[in-house]
Amino acid sequence: MWGATILMARSGPFMQKLSLPQRQTLGFVYKLVTGSIPFDVLRLHEKYGDVVRISPDQLAFAHPQAWKDIMGHQTTEMPKYKNYYSPIAGAPQHIVNADREEHAALRRALSHGFSERSIRDQQTIIKPYIDFLIERLHEKCDNGVSTQDMVMWYNYTMFDVIGDLSFGESFGCLESGEYHPWVRSFFNLAQTGTYLYGASWWPTLQKMIIKSIPKSSIQEQIQMYLMTVKKTKKRMDMVETRADFAQALLDRRDKIGLNMQKLEANANTLVVAGSETTATAMSGMTFYLLKNPDAHQKLKDEIRGAFKSDEEIDFHAASNLPYLQACINETLRAYPPTPSGLPRTVPAGGATICGQFVPENTVVAIYQWAMHNRRENFKLPNEFHPERFLDDERFKYDNKDAFQAFHVGPRACIGKNLAYLEMRAIMARIIYNFDMELSPDCQDWMSRQRVFDVWEKDELKVHLKPVSR
Ligand code: HEM
Repeated sequence: MWGATILMARSGPFMQKLSLPQRQTLGFVYKLVTGSIPFDVLRLHEKYGDVVRISPDQLAFAHPQAWKDIMGHQTTEMPKYKNYYSPIAGAPQHIVNADREEHAALRRALSHGFSERSIRDQQTIIKPYIDFLIERLHEKCDNGVSTQDMVMWYNYTMFDVIGDLSFGESFGCLESGEYHPWVRSFFNLAQTGTYLYGASWWPTLQKMIIKSIPKSSIQEQIQMYLMTVKKTKKRMDMVETRADFAQALLDRRDKIGLNMQKLEANANTLVVAGSETTATAMSGMTFYLLKNPDAHQKLKDEIRGAFKSDEEIDFHAASNLPYLQACINETLRAYPPTPSGLPRTVPAGGATICGQFVPENTVVAIYQWAMHNRRENFKLPNEFHPERFLDDERFKYDNKDAFQAFHVGPRACIGKNLAYLEMRAIMARIIYNFDMELSPDCQDWMSRQRVFDVWEKDELKVHLKPVSR
């Protein structure tokens, strides 16, 4: 029925002791923990079609209809796959991994923090961080050109912004010029999540992995948790009313039965969901622009022609730049910040996906990078062409419905509008202020990356030169 598979593990004496399904699962897990799974899944789609079986109980889809069928608003929402979303039993639930009922209540409460009005008010919190980013980069360019790691600067900015909106205080990364221990822990622990998921097919192995986690990592995790507790308490003690995400939760805390642990878990999740994602998109966009001089020039012309001073660039003004918007979308298509499959489980009774019946308990996923980079969905998928989002004739057969960097349905990204506003304002300010050139040793920055849920990124070294006016 489905395109043949499978990510099979190589044979050898050990493998021969395993059953075929075990070897197939091992093949999938191997690709997962070595960081190549989205690329392997694309290869399978290119060879076998819209649907491929990637392990005995898992299907991957790359037809645009799958977005609606798997993630859409249906009577029976497809639950998130527990092994992936809650690999450690007993950890507190939060908006991303909560079951349907709890999720709906949390989402309703949190939506107040993402309303048009809240976001307008949040600009007063966010703008000083963007000003500070630009100021810091100018400082670095004191003697003319300066080479800076832009991955780091975008991370500093986004963790400071989202830290402020979630905990009521920034992480101080822009100020100190280094990662706050909380942020450093997040990056250090990112890969562990992928390993725990990979081991979830073998509970004994998972226990062994948990036991083998070095003491220093456990200490780090404990420290991170204690910092979250402290920050959440501090935010709760604030008397002023703020237009932030924390306020949305605190105001409705009793109504939705949010205990302290869940409050902390949600604040944590918001920081993780809102910072690294947006920073990754901006790093990706910077790289693409510097590799594509025509697109870079067009964007410079648009931004530098639209404003007479830096002060004019705000959320609203940066939203009226079509080429900027197209560059952001093309980046999110070609290099989505959540490139992997975010798996769901087919509910009791089975479901129809892309016109075919799928039995209950099958794990189904859309590997976003594969969906966005598939030739059937986008012409010249490996090239950067913002024009495809500006109705250019060359791309008239692109299937735009395939592009869903923020997903669709009840579990889609709640921060989508905020993310676009931030990316537009920050990228417009960067392009307005600096001429940029990619350092020679970063020419293959993107092709070196692996995926452990998020992209594993090296430094993105860029020569910055302030624009003289
Ligand atoms: C370019 C930036 C971003 C991208 C590509 C992105 C992408 C996504 C995706 C794909 C999901 C679905 C996750 C799943 O199904 O498990 C998601 C969920 C979510 N995102 Fe974003 N996101 C971005 C920025 C933000 C920002 C700025 C925030 C604000 C804090 C945010 C907060 C969230 C939250 C809270 C959820 C869970 C929503 C729910 O389950 O109801 N995201 N995001």
